[in-house]
Amino acid sequence: MGDKKFSSKIGFILSAAGSAVGLGNLWRFPYLAAKYGGGTFLLIYLILTVTFGFSMMLTEIAIGRKTGKSILGAYGALNKKFKFIGYLSGLVPVIIFPYYCVIGGWVLKYMATFIAGESEKAVSADYFTGFITGTAQPVAFLFVFLAATAVIVAFGVQKGIEKANKLLMPILVVMMVLVAVYGLTVPGALEGLVYYLKPDFGKFSFNAVAAAVGQLFYSLSLAMGIMVTYGSYMKKEDNIETCVKQIEIFDTGVAFLAGLVIIPTVFTFNGDKQSLLTSGPSLMFITLPKVFSNMRLGWLVGIVFFILVFFAALTSSISLMETIVAMVEEKTGWKRVTACIVTGLFSFALALPSALGFGALSGVNIIGMSFLDFFDFISNSVLMPIVALLMCIFVGYFLKTSAIAEEISESESFKRRKLYDVIIKYVAPVFLVIILITSILSSFKIISL
Ligand code: PHE
Repeated sequence: MGDKKFSSKIGFILSAAGSAVGLGNLWRFPYLAAKYGGGTFLLIYLILTVTFGFSMMLTEIAIGRKTGKSILGAYGALNKKFKFIGYLSGLVPVIIFPYYCVIGGWVLKYMATFIAGESEKAVSADYFTGFITGTAQPVAFLFVFLAATAVIVAFGVQKGIEKANKLLMPILVVMMVLVAVYGLTVPGALEGLVYYLKPDFGKFSFNAVAAAVGQLFYSLSLAMGIMVTYGSYMKKEDNIETCVKQIEIFDTGVAFLAGLVIIPTVFTFNGDKQSLLTSGPSLMFITLPKVFSNMRLGWLVGIVFFILVFFAALTSSISLMETIVAMVEEKTGWKRVTACIVTGLFSFALALPSALGFGALSGVNIIGMSFLDFFDFISNSVLMPIVALLMCIFVGYFLKTSAIAEEISESESFKRRKLYDVIIKYVAPVFLVIILITSILSSFKIISL
């Protein structure tokens, strides 16, 4: 199929950036930055991005392009004994995709609420609780979000994924800049800006580094098979090294902008620093609607904001679904549309417990967690660090980094070859063990990140 390649370098970069830029950038990065000393955190994050993040992403894309296979086949094609890494990695999107669509549905609900002019309703925390503890609504919004993803993926790599990302990603950036600029004009916002940008080196700590590594890893969509899959659609003449740089600039730029949008605006809200220390759903669906309602033209800011969050979530869920569909196609030989319908229905069924986990099924807990939290825990805190660690060991000590370097040099010479070697063999494994331990401990609230 001719369609199974990105048609242009920019199409590839925007699609990979579309995957990278997601809810993590919007609802976790600003919170971590606020918590760990603003500029200090930004600095740590930046250094890690150009070293650790760079090497990990480079490896995944190179593995994909070298083998031209889905995540299931890719590792086996390089070395039969390590085929299992592909299977383990392939499991991650199968687990994440369903619950990601549940959250995508929540975003859709808020977007609809704001567009319908009912932003005032969203101000009370009960509105959110009422919504997620319901039955029909969370399931209906989940369905619409999942169906939208499936339709785009069904159109294929060029006509679906590439087209959608080329359209949505630039709009997302423009909207973010607008909201950030407007937010900064609100009285009191500048104080928040200073808080965000001024380094507070007193907050430099082991936890800050651990949190930054974990965030970066998730934000770049690593260890989910996504970058391997997208890499397999990349042309040989495109330079992987420059693409990775640009994807990282995009992802970090959006995370930085998210901080610019969220920290100063939340600051204007009674100068309430405490509200900054929430992340995740409560920041997005409870704190922010409150902040918007206190702002002049807040309803409009809310509309633009939730549309951009929707775009960010959609382009990420596209990459998740594509990774699953590529596996299904490779294993069954089905046509793309069939693979999409089957994957869509299967994922919808798997998503139901997460969608109903706060309402009808709220009595059911797994190791003390709701379904959604449990799936999130298994994939993000356990499987992903393990997959990435195995990948580094495999590439560093069995396949050898020269094989990756060869793939990178297909177009131009590999500039950061030496740095890459050291990171994959020594630095990344240490970081990954740290992520694994800290994220498990923080999931059980033994430490707080
Ligand atoms: N990278 C995304 C983010 O920062 C997370 C993500 C992408 C999760 C794709 C799943 C799939 O939010």
